[in-house]
Amino acid sequence: MKLSSIDSIPHLWYSKVMSKLIYVPGEGGLRKGLVFIGEAPGATEEALQKPFVGQAGEVLDRYLKYVGITRSDIYITNVVKVRPEDNRTPTDEEIATWRVPLLKELTALERYGESFSIVTLGLTAAKAMLGEDIEKMGQVSGAIQYGCLDYKIVCTYHPAYILRSPDAFNEVKKDLDIVSKLMLQ
Ligand code: URA
Repeated sequence: MKLSSIDSIPHLWYSKVMSKLIYVPGEGGLRKGLVFIGEAPGATEEALQKPFVGQAGEVLDRYLKYVGITRSDIYITNVVKVRPEDNRTPTDEEIATWRVPLLKELTALERYGESFSIVTLGLTAAKAMLGEDIEKMGQVSGAIQYGCLDYKIVCTYHPAYILRSPDAFNEVKKDLDIVSKLMLQ
C-alpha cells in the first residue's frame, strides 16, 4: 500500500493501514562522516526496501564517484520513509511530520560514530533540514548551511532532476566540491 491521505483514514482503521505500508529504512555507515538525505522511496526502492536503488540511485553513484567515495562509505536515508502515491512530491505538512523521525534517526547515528555532515538531495530534504519556506534549490545550494541541531548541511540538486536536466550536474559538482572538503579523509 502507498501513502495516501492518512488524515482521511478513520481512526479505527489507521493502524491496520499503517501496518501495510512498506517502510524503506536508511542504511550505510559513517566512515566518511557523511549522511545523504533524499526525498522518498520510489517503486524500485519500495520493492527492494532499500534507498536509491533505482535510476536516481545510478545518478547518485555518479555524485559519489565525483568525490571519490562509494555507497559503503556513506549513510543514506530519505525524509519520507514510505512511497507517496503516484510518486508525488511530499507536501509541506508531510515533511513536517516526517522531520520528527528523521531527526531522531540523526540523533541515533550520533551515538555510533564520528561527527557527520549532511548532504540534502533536492528540495524536500532541504526543507526538512532548513525549513519549509525554501522555494528553490538556488536559494540554498553552493554554500554550507546551518539548520536544526547545528549540522553542517550542503544542499544539492536531486539525482532525479539530473536525469531530466543533465547540464545541472555542473551545479552539483560545485556542491560536491564543498562536500569533499567536509568529508573525513
Ligand atoms: N528518490 C529518493 O529521493 N529517494 C530514493 O530512495 C529514491 C529515489
